[in-house]
Amino acid sequence: MTDQIAALTALIQARAGSAPVELGLILGSGLGHLAASVEGVAIPYAELDGFPHVGVSGHNPNLVIGTLEGRRVAVFGAREHYYENGNPSAMRLPLAVLKALGATALIATNAAGSLRADILPGDLMLLNDHINFSGLNPLIGERTDARFVPMTMAHDPELRSGLRAAAKACGVTLPEGVYTWYSGPSFETPAEIRAIKILGGDAVGMSTVPEVILARFLGLRVAAISTITNMAAGLSDEQISHEHTKAMAPLGAAKLEQVLRQFLRHGL
Ligand code: HPA
Repeated sequence: MTDQIAALTALIQARAGSAPVELGLILGSGLGHLAASVEGVAIPYAELDGFPHVGVSGHNPNLVIGTLEGRRVAVFGAREHYYENGNPSAMRLPLAVLKALGATALIATNAAGSLRADILPGDLMLLNDHINFSGLNPLIGERTDARFVPMTMAHDPELRSGLRAAAKACGVTLPEGVYTWYSGPSFETPAEIRAIKILGGDAVGMSTVPEVILARFLGLRVAAISTITNMAAGLSDEQISHEHTKAMAPLGAAKLEQVLRQFLRHGL
């Protein structure tokens, strides 16, 4: 553990108590209100030296440590996206701190566009794999052999089956599919969406893949869920925009909260 990770961990534990965190949760666009459900202590990223300065509207840059459904969780109310500063490893320090706080698992959430006719705006999609369409990697520059992270089972089968069971228990449909990371911040062209479809992508978004790679690098089990806010470019007449993403995310957020609460009660 580096001095910076140790210092941040000590600061967070001094404020929020030192009981080990079980699970980390990263909240995507329009999903920030989930952090308000956690009984605990909110620490602004600005007070955590080295945490990202997130400037995307619809994100709430606090780390909330507390209890949700009786489980000790750490909720990241915002992530830094690659498109903000060109840094694919911006979430490395926060995730290393999550690990140092005791967590063994991470659930990442995001807003995404769907490429599948059976997955519509307002629906959720559980990631069963991903395609890195960006050519970037958060581990570039890492010098140790730990950088050669196996990604065959990157999206943890046990967490996924726990999330599927939780969704079933709540009556929420939770299709699985492949998420494709597009760097953004511009949205994709219809031709890019056709290319992603040919490659096997079911949804597209501008986040999550770096965090999945970093989580595996750090030895955290990881699963991710998309809230579908729109059909991907060229697949409907709808105008794709960030405003639209923020307006639509709450549709899926209510289902997501139900599934996550059920998962924490019975699935983790
Ligand atoms: N593309 C990329 N990112 C997104 C989309 C999309 O269609 N919708 C929400 N986030």
